[in-house]
Amino acid sequence: MSEKAVLQFRGKTYELPVIVGTEGEIAIDVQSLRAQSGLITLDEGYANTGSCRSSITFIDGEKGILRYRGYPIEELAEHSNFVETAYLVIFGELPTAQQLADFRALLSEHEYLHEDLRHHFEGFPPNAHPMGTLSAMINAANSFQPVLLQPEDDARFMDSAARLMSKVRTIAAASYKKSVGQPMNYPRPDLPYVSNFLHMMFSRPNKPYEPDPDAVRALDLILTLHADHEQNCSTSTVRMVGSSQANMWASASAGVCALWGPLHGGANTAVVQMLEQIHQSGESVEQIIVKVKAKNSKMKLMGFGHRVYKNFDPRAKIIKKACDVVLEKLKRTDPLLDIAKKLEEAALNDSYFVERKLYPNVDFYSGIILRAIGIPVNMFTVIFAIGRMPGWIANWREVHLDPNSRIYRPRQIYTGPTLRSYVPMEQRGR
Ligand code: CMC
Repeated sequence: MSEKAVLQFRGKTYELPVIVGTEGEIAIDVQSLRAQSGLITLDEGYANTGSCRSSITFIDGEKGILRYRGYPIEELAEHSNFVETAYLVIFGELPTAQQLADFRALLSEHEYLHEDLRHHFEGFPPNAHPMGTLSAMINAANSFQPVLLQPEDDARFMDSAARLMSKVRTIAAASYKKSVGQPMNYPRPDLPYVSNFLHMMFSRPNKPYEPDPDAVRALDLILTLHADHEQNCSTSTVRMVGSSQANMWASASAGVCALWGPLHGGANTAVVQMLEQIHQSGESVEQIIVKVKAKNSKMKLMGFGHRVYKNFDPRAKIIKKACDVVLEKLKRTDPLLDIAKKLEEAALNDSYFVERKLYPNVDFYSGIILRAIGIPVNMFTVIFAIGRMPGWIANWREVHLDPNSRIYRPRQIYTGPTLRSYVPMEQRGR
């Protein structure tokens, strides 16, 4: 017999179904609540709202657990790679050798941009932020695609997913080239996904670039760790847009915009800017911690805290470990890494952070690795977007495959003026 939750309100009792997830998470299904009682639920910022049922990613924020389709992030980081993980996230299972080869072949086949689309880049000013360019160009690229989405058909959907994943990477590199005034590179069909991106980013007509295998591995790890993260702000945006039956490109373009902000994907940029500022000003980490904690402080310790993780973000643990290895392999040192480690230590021993359960998140150390690879700071969030694309595609597809899917349309509690009559201009006092 299914469990029920009981709500008492104004002398009446209402029974609401309890939904249990496969990992034992429990939720009250409130869909019938308003019809029964007139009540809606109010949860500003959705901190306690399950907006959907999803079989893609599982997070236990108290225990610091993250799994894609059941596989722990630690195992995927060690044994998998971005393209394989993308396949897993989108299609639900690890691919066979043949399935992976087919997916890789599609990623290569779709890596080019239509020549007319390449001309669109000329309209952006040189200092345009690559996130704005990326979002606009994903939407523009949509006009050049046949409508082949077919979410219910694995093989055809694989083609659509590969098109988006592959072209996003080409667009991202092109937006960087545009921002530094260099000619855009064509992709090289002989290179796999990540090396090809680095080639498009860094090759110049007068200076060919051969992707360094350590840099490729490091970037691959970053992308793998970002592949999905359940109902975060940008993924919820993609689902929201997709729920109106807007196509996958339009939905992904909206996801890029949501990701851009410093409280979400933009935090990786903000962390490095904060560390650079500390480095240049010579302020001590203690001074920074005091500033962050000050009453009414607008300053946050960027890269710290998370809506869901009240323990270590497992991705941050993996990236922190990788930082030392990557810097050593690439023969780099970075004073920002020392500052970051000192900041982390100071914060983790400070009651402000301990009481609020604020730990380093994925963005705290990822910028150190991206800097070591040579990725410019204004491209950090773009890298996040490339990495998150499989998650957005999988979530978009889930919305479309769900037979019970409805347009996302929350309610509100109105707090504005009550009914009043129109006042003619000549009677308005001001
Ligand atoms: N530095 C200082 N104080 C903080 C921080 C921080 N980074 N994060 C949260 N707090 C404080 C916050 O001021 C509040 O204090 P009080 O209870 O005294 O009012 C308390 O901790 C609870 O925070 P919250 O604002 O309710 O937390 P939230 O769940 O609404 O926000 C967050 C989560 C990630 C937006 C927030 O922790 C934050 O702004 N962090 C810095 C930005 C950042 O690193 N974002 C990346 C998130 S992970 C990757 C991604 O999603 O893109």
